[in-house]
Amino acid sequence: MSAGKIVFTQDRIRRRTEEIAREIAGAIPGGDLHVIVTLKGALFFAVDLIRALGREATLGFITASSYGGGTESSGEVDLRTEDIGEVAGRHVLIVEDIIDTGRTLKIAVAAIQSLGPASVRTAALIDKPSRREVEIDAEFTGFRVDDIFLVGYGLDCDQEYRTLPDIRSLGP
Ligand code: PRP
Repeated sequence: MSAGKIVFTQDRIRRRTEEIAREIAGAIPGGDLHVIVTLKGALFFAVDLIRALGREATLGFITASSYGGGTESSGEVDLRTEDIGEVAGRHVLIVEDIIDTGRTLKIAVAAIQSLGPASVRTAALIDKPSRREVEIDAEFTGFRVDDIFLVGYGLDCDQEYRTLPDIRSLGP
């Protein structure tokens, strides 16, 4: 399959990211902010969001993988937290590229909550509410979409297409 038509242009992604950054600035109190990026998909969104935030923050990383290959989730999430950073007593912002079944975010939030943060909030660029299998939502959401498989701007299909600058549907 090839990357098909553009769903979100670079410009639209940039403008929405700046809006989310303003929402976050109004909602997360001053003080220690720790941004946790869920690799690999959220890499591009996280960098642009952190820059738009324009605020001092420490960084941590978790690696979550659930798609064994192709376009269907395996249903199991492998979460690696070695580089999660200093969480205790800090305001944490988890940055996700997409919420699909919700399993990854649910497990990530639980792992972070167990480390005693001052607060935990989540920002996701894309949300697919119709795909949800567990109860979870992000406080800050970029775009809500139907059940279409998206690639680009970090989103992959079998590790391909992540470096596309815009977000596209997968298909002819
Ligand atoms: C994707 C995406 C989210 C997760 C969302 O990650 O980046 O983390 O799936 O799906 P869910 O809501 O059903 O859990 P993936 O496991 O493909 O790893 P990647 O970030 O390395 O692409």
